[in-house]
Amino acid sequence: MPQPTEAQDAPEVQGAPEAQGAPEVAGAPDELVGPLERGLAVLRAMAAGPEVRHRPGDLARTTGLARSTIDRVTTTLVRLGLLRTEGRDLLLAPRAAELGNAYLASCGLPELLGPHAVALADALDESVSVAVPDGDGVRFLAQATRRRAMAISFRTGDLLPAERCAPGALFAARWDAADHERWRERRTKDPLDTGFPSMPPRPAGPSDEVEAEFLDRVREAREAGFAVDDQLIEPGLLAVALPVRGPDGAVVCAVSVVSHTSRHSAASLTEQALPPLRRAVTAMERALAAPGTEEAAPAAPADPSGSGLKEELGSGFLQSLARGLDVLRAFGSVRGPVRLSELARRTGLPRATARRSLITLRHLGYVREEAGGFLVLPRVLELGYARISGLSLPEIATPHLVALVLRVHESASVAVLDGDDIRYVARVASTRIMHIDITVGTRLPAYATSMGRVLLAALPEAERAARLGRITPEALTPRTVRTHEGLDEAVATTAARGYGWVEQELEEGLRSLAVPVTDGTGHVVGAVNVALHAGRATPEESLATLLPALRETAALISADLAAVGRFTRVTPA
Ligand code: PHB
Repeated sequence: MPQPTEAQDAPEVQGAPEAQGAPEVAGAPDELVGPLERGLAVLRAMAAGPEVRHRPGDLARTTGLARSTIDRVTTTLVRLGLLRTEGRDLLLAPRAAELGNAYLASCGLPELLGPHAVALADALDESVSVAVPDGDGVRFLAQATRRRAMAISFRTGDLLPAERCAPGALFAARWDAADHERWRERRTKDPLDTGFPSMPPRPAGPSDEVEAEFLDRVREAREAGFAVDDQLIEPGLLAVALPVRGPDGAVVCAVSVVSHTSRHSAASLTEQALPPLRRAVTAMERALAAPGTEEAAPAAPADPSGSGLKEELGSGFLQSLARGLDVLRAFGSVRGPVRLSELARRTGLPRATARRSLITLRHLGYVREEAGGFLVLPRVLELGYARISGLSLPEIATPHLVALVLRVHESASVAVLDGDDIRYVARVASTRIMHIDITVGTRLPAYATSMGRVLLAALPEAERAARLGRITPEALTPRTVRTHEGLDEAVATTAARGYGWVEQELEEGLRSLAVPVTDGTGHVVGAVNVALHAGRATPEESLATLLPALRETAALISADLAAVGRFTRVTPA
């Protein structure tokens, strides 16, 4: 079957978008942007199942798109940094988090409610989560976790079936007949919850019992104003949830306190958690009602997907896909609804182009139009956010280390500061034989390593001084800096020039060069280095060839950390 080209932009999904009051942007089905629809279909397919790696042929099968279309779409998404390749495999890239970030910034909930959730978790010493309704499901937005006796932990962006968690009963208390019918249809189509990859499989049971039991809990939630999950997801897991209302009285989200049967019964959790939960919700509702800023939390600087790429890549690059994604990302720079003209201005796109992207995004359920403009919806989180938000520093760094090692043919690593040591969290060895045998988890004294000097140099002044005062350098080789003055100076030099250099101080014959890795707020969270045999080149030659490559690698890792860590904590290992 011939596939539509970008120029034709033929829609693959028929049917008029839902009417929503008097829309600023009416839009007919023939105005849908085909490449944007297909690009989002590929991202969805890559995020949906348990597989992390995808072959183009498999994507063609799961999306129903032609192989040539898959190639064009994935080439474009790779070029935009949303996908990456490993051999013939395609993987979601950390930068794909920017799509979910647009929703999380625009709705403002993680920023406004997150601190209250953390305070409640601290006060109760139990996990606390914030979730929003998404169709007939429940989407997790923020979590303050206590990892104790809990087999399951949801990630930001995970979707749960309403009937299997406490927030679901609260949201369903407001459903109309059509919502209930959609829920029933989903249950009939997928009785084992296979469409919810983060859920343990549902124990088989008669469907009408599930429904009767859910309707009971929905009624109780409506009457009591709170909902309880007594091991609906898995044995042992308990939760109690309250709704949080916006200034207009509408339920915006639910906050859950999550515990375990080893610490509580459902009744004792309710008794103990409900009063502080109520106080937290009052504080959250106050935060939502407070006049906020128009601007959302600043995003990581994004590469513009402008016409340069089109010229560079020619017909292989789907510019209308790139532009549609720009429109989606632009929601992340403003809190609340945005008008078409504002989105056009923020993306630098012609109004007509932004409008067609919006028609497409609305058709797919990613945005909604209301009185004040367009709102991005939590469904955007299905485009890979949950998988990406779970990535650790080593998982984010390793592909970049692989690229660096291929480029410079020397071993490269990432380490974090751990007390007075550095601890390796990621490493890619070159094929050359190294003298030093380092694996992930190896600890080395910070003072004698290039990464350690970078990490010490990044400490706040007082802490740096205290730390350096405490360290007693040992002569590991005849060249090791072994006085406090020498070490102070070495760290100060590292700070001033922006890279760490250690020449045969840790081990004879070993040279190492390191630069800092930062998170989205500019904090140094790690260091990346290249280590090599000192006999391979003069110090000047090593610096000239390695430093630019190392800096580029650090910038790429830092940009990924900024995207992934904007609303979730990236674990260091
Ligand atoms: C969770 O945050 O992990 C959670 C919340 C509500 C539930 C179950 C789990 O009902």
